[in-house]
Amino acid sequence: MSRGRFITIEGPEGSGKSTHSRLLCLHLKKKGFKVLHAREPGSTKIGEAIRKILLDKNNKRMSGACELFLFLAARAQVVDEIIRPALAKGYIVVCDRFHDATVAYQGYGAGLDLKLIDSMGKFATGGLKPDLTLLLDVETGAGLKRGGIKDRMEIKPVLFHKRVRNGYLKIAKKEPRRIKVIRTTDAPVVAVRDKIRRAVSDVI
Ligand SMILES: Nc1ncnc2c1ncn2[C@@H]1O[C@H](COP(=O)(O)OP(=O)(O)O)[C@@H](O)[C@H]1O
Ligand SMILES: [Mg+2]
Repeated sequence: MSRGRFITIEGPEGSGKSTHSRLLCLHLKKKGFKVLHAREPGSTKIGEAIRKILLDKNNKRMSGACELFLFLAARAQVVDEIIRPALAKGYIVVCDRFHDATVAYQGYGAGLDLKLIDSMGKFATGGLKPDLTLLLDVETGAGLKRGGIKDRMEIKPVLFHKRVRNGYLKIAKKEPRRIKVIRTTDAPVVAVRDKIRRAVSDVI
């Protein structure tokens, strides 16, 4: 492969992003690809420190603007420190969340201006776009029921999470070539895994 591929995994809480980004990386490594697994916010020393602030339930007083800047700050760092260098070396980079998450959560969920998020996002990423985005869709109730102890984002009201889910689906409608929607509500993990493998094989 002459250049790398950038694959992002998106979706609401409990949709299976952590599960499937892990499974996909194992699968691609077995096939002999150079693979890098990243998550957002995080994956760099600076990003993981920002992640702690963002997910800390004690930080109830965080303003919307502060939240947006912190997510974008973590993203700027992981793009510069990890993702771009790996792509240049021919890696397949699988990232659990990226720019679409900011549009869905801070835009559709929290009501910040979508155009502003778009231009700030471009600044943070230097215009880097995924080759493929897997949007794992789950009904809000079912997603929130999955998983254990909840963080500052997960304990936001159910209505917020519904706006996030619908926001993600709107984003996917605007960019059907890049974003593949995979429904996971009543789908077993292996069925979702196989759909992901098929979508990925089209871009590598
Ligand atoms: N398709 C699925 N059906 C049922 N449970 C699932 C499915 N995908 C993931 N899970 C379970 O739901 C929980 C949350 O999954 P996780 O991968 O952490 O989601 P996310 O990272 O999107 O929040 C985990 O316990 C996982 O095993
Ligand atoms: Mg996760």
